[in-house]
Amino acid sequence: MARKLNTSSLNKDRMPRHVAIIMDGNGRWAKKRFMPRTMGHRAGMASLKKVVRACDDMGIAILTVFAFSTENWKRPRDEVSYLMQLLTEFMRKELDELHQNNVRIQVLGDYNATPPECRIEIKRALEMTRDNTGLIFNIALNYGSRKEILDAAKTLAAKVTAGEIKVEEVTEEIFSGLLYTKGMPDPDLLIRSSGEMRISNFMLWQIAYTEIVVTDTLWPDFTEDDLVQAVVEYQHRDRKFGGLNK
Ligand code: IPE
Ligand code: IPE
Ligand code: MG
Repeated sequence: MARKLNTSSLNKDRMPRHVAIIMDGNGRWAKKRFMPRTMGHRAGMASLKKVVRACDDMGIAILTVFAFSTENWKRPRDEVSYLMQLLTEFMRKELDELHQNNVRIQVLGDYNATPPECRIEIKRALEMTRDNTGLIFNIALNYGSRKEILDAAKTLAAKVTAGEIKVEEVTEEIFSGLLYTKGMPDPDLLIRSSGEMRISNFMLWQIAYTEIVVTDTLWPDFTEDDLVQAVVEYQHRDRKFGGLNK
């Protein structure tokens, strides 16, 4: 059963609209327990379920999670296929509840490269939830920010060549509109679990002014309370966007 979220420390007037998470540390969590890495990934899925619910309960508009990067294909075949299986299972098992809660699922990244059974579940989830008006839940899957930016640049170059747009007319808004996150506000808060101080090719364009919170907690140990704590930390930040605050 989902437990009641303690949000008393939150300032309801300063909630982030868009929270992005680099869910890292599954392998280390398993290693500490002398378990195979795959068990870490399974435990990580349980954290994800809790965090999606908590974001919904907190009234966050958009949650984006980094589930699998374009670089993660370098991992051993067994680990990659286990991760794909887990994602398929997550979609299959969680879809009904997410749909009931009016959650809209979206995938950022080229999911055509995933195994057929995974693609089927993704398509089902996207179609079923497309008109939902609650939490937007973005799953970054086979996602790489450089690829995303490069694809946008290629699309734009083709439009220029075709005479559809002039080079001088290209604005940040037009460029943003060619990214997977088209139409969405940039993340206000980026959380990375397990202590790594790097971005690992995640949302390079979108996080220009995002507040970053890195927690030492390994992703499978990450709870609703860690999420609340990260949001509290965000709420104490002085966001300046290059200007001066009084
Ligand atoms: C994050 O955990 C999950 C994915 C990258 C898919 P890791 O598997 O990267 O865990 P560590 O970094 O090895 O602990
Ligand atoms: C980033 O984590 C990708 C995901 C969380 C899906 P990694 O574990 O792949 O990143 P690096 O290799 O430590 O930079
Ligand atoms: Mg990692």
